[in-house]
Amino acid sequence: MRQDSAPVTVIDSHAHLQDPRFAEDVDQVIERALTGGLEMIICIGYDLESSRAAVELTRRYREIRAVVGVHPHDAKTIDDRVLAEIWELGRDPRVVAIGEMGLDYYRNLSSPEEQKQGFRAQINLAKKLGKPIVIHDRDAHDEVLSIIKQEKAGSNGGIMHCYSGHLPLAIELMKQGFMISFAGPLTYSNAKKTVEVAARIPLDRVLVETDCPYLTPQSHRGQRNEPLYVWETTKKLAEIHQKSLQEVAYITTYNVHKLFGV
Ligand code: NI
Repeated sequence: MRQDSAPVTVIDSHAHLQDPRFAEDVDQVIERALTGGLEMIICIGYDLESSRAAVELTRRYREIRAVVGVHPHDAKTIDDRVLAEIWELGRDPRVVAIGEMGLDYYRNLSSPEEQKQGFRAQINLAKKLGKPIVIHDRDAHDEVLSIIKQEKAGSNGGIMHCYSGHLPLAIELMKQGFMISFAGPLTYSNAKKTVEVAARIPLDRVLVETDCPYLTPQSHRGQRNEPLYVWETTKKLAEIHQKSLQEVAYITTYNVHKLFGV
């Protein structure tokens, strides 16, 4: 957790505060994060309703920014009307990126065809808005990368969220303009492979996130995840890179400001 001797702030670059699991106490959750040293929380939409809710939260807290889009699980819901509303929401200055979008071939809740179409459509929408994108990739590394290359998806920058892939892919993604974001799984005792990858990625391309309420870090496992726990991943990253917590918090925070221009 934060060390009082050297005040420093950090940003949770991927939180789902509009998730039903926060419905009862979202204000306390945000308050805990802000008093615990988070200077900003990026609230990520996963369908139309959650995207609207993310924008709504930015009206209530000046420390919150929104990302709007449709998760690959819900790609089957994407039609012209949905894209038109994402476009409208995306024009808001407090919406810093489009997503989360991508491919999830692990659960396949929408067909691969629907996922690919939805991914490409949202990439193009983001490009027209001039905003970065936030990508979700599960068991679809090759296809995600080839779509990114074909669509020049990184032209406004982007984030590969909750990275768990191998090093060559990370290098390719960085070449395409992407930042690599690490979440709670980096702290798991069986995260050897991801730890090795994280050690090789230069910190000026790294972000930290919680993906709350999911992916609770090791020290709080069994509980609901929340933005405050982003410190756990930041701490782990500092350990891996043999830097101070302050330095890693500072660099990853700077990276968010640079990417989103906030
Ligand atoms: Ni997420």
